[in-house]
Amino acid sequence: MASVHLLLLLLLLYSSASAARGTHSPAPPQPTPHLRFKPTNGQFKILQVADMHYADGAATKCQDVLPQQLRTCSDLNTSAFLRRAILAEQPDLIVFTGDNIFGFDSSDSGRSLNAAFAPAVSAKLPWAAVLGNHDQEGTLSREGVMRHVVGMDGTLSEINPTIMVSEIDGFGNYNLEVGGVRGSGLGNKSVLNLYFLDSGDYSTVPSVYGYGWIKPSQQYWFQITSRQLQKAYMSKPQPQKESAPGLVFFHIPLPEFASFDSSNFTGIRQEGISSASVNSGFFTTMLEAGDVKAVFTGHDHLNDFCGELTGINLCYGGGFGYHAYGKAGWARRARVILATLEKTEKGEWEAVKSIRTWKRLDDKHLTTIDQQVLWCKKSTSKHALIT
Ligand SMILES: *[C@@H]1O[C@H](CO)[C@@H](O)[C@H](O)[C@H]1NC(C)=O
Ligand SMILES: *[C@@H]1O[C@H](CO)[C@@H](O)[C@H](O)[C@H]1NC(C)=O
Ligand SMILES: *[C@@H]1O[C@H](CO)[C@@H](O)[C@H](O)[C@H]1NC(C)=O
Repeated sequence: MASVHLLLLLLLLYSSASAARGTHSPAPPQPTPHLRFKPTNGQFKILQVADMHYADGAATKCQDVLPQQLRTCSDLNTSAFLRRAILAEQPDLIVFTGDNIFGFDSSDSGRSLNAAFAPAVSAKLPWAAVLGNHDQEGTLSREGVMRHVVGMDGTLSEINPTIMVSEIDGFGNYNLEVGGVRGSGLGNKSVLNLYFLDSGDYSTVPSVYGYGWIKPSQQYWFQITSRQLQKAYMSKPQPQKESAPGLVFFHIPLPEFASFDSSNFTGIRQEGISSASVNSGFFTTMLEAGDVKAVFTGHDHLNDFCGELTGINLCYGGGFGYHAYGKAGWARRARVILATLEKTEKGEWEAVKSIRTWKRLDDKHLTTIDQQVLWCKKSTSKHALIT
């Protein structure tokens, strides 16, 4: 019954939204993206930070560390790990996938947010954040947290898309475009698309227990945005044959994260998949859109795997924060995502050729583990170098 209702809702939403489309067509994608691939190496690197659970800094003690580590461990260790990871990886963008602060233990949410994101701000790196299920438990609501975040230095986060700002569920649904190398043939196009969504906190439907989910309104926004981006990419000038790859970031894993076991994922699963107890269909929506190659979530701190289901990789970041539950002796970790462009014989940078990922552990040497290829372009252009 629940799925029938959801379908009806989706249909209703569709018809009203397509009626609205006739009156005001959505704005075209931005011609000049904030983010770009580097001309030096044709790369764009993202550092994913999941579940910092930041609260009151030095006064907030660590959870699940070894007994001898307890006395000297606080939120400041989370900040130190973030500074170290930034130095080691030199990312082009940092993405925080929710539970950035642990509102319940924070005496001032604004102050906790400032402290949590401070290493990204002081590194002067662009960063983007979405909400988890704990960010709003302190002095700020979900909207309040997102408003605070978008006011901070260096962030590219947005509260909601201008095309349906009042109709969309949640806060922090937006997309970012990563431009090709400046001056190259694809310098005016988005060659990598990043989507950010609010996966909610808890179900508000009395008959449904557990966590929230990505609502039809958000899926509809994703759908029209993906369609627009693909259209722009495949139109003149420099029309491309296939869509640019898309990466999707949110907090709560989809039920499809439970499709794997150790025979078909890279990483580890040490706890259950805490997705919503209903399936709102976002995986299918992404499959149909066709451009999404990987999804990155947090939420389950002890799971850090990536598994591929029908062409889309479903990845956990792995727990980052020290005031988040974890496993004593099992290092806190971060995920790195690296997209690399294809290069022609003439030395010109083209479209994205591959997307790789690995994790960094917060140990003495920031050990790199679980390197893997998430996606590779199938057809290389005629003039491209085969490397
Ligand atoms: C936390 O930081 C302190 C101070 O730098 C350090 O002595 C301690 O080993 C760190 N603890 C962990 C678990 O990394
Ligand atoms: C990109 O846009 C700039 C500014 O409008 C223009 O000068 C340049 O020729 C464009 N490049 C391509 C490859 O279309
Ligand atoms: C992973 O392997 C298990 C069997 O070991 C299988 O049940 C499951 O369907 C596989 N998942 C995917 C996504 O291939």
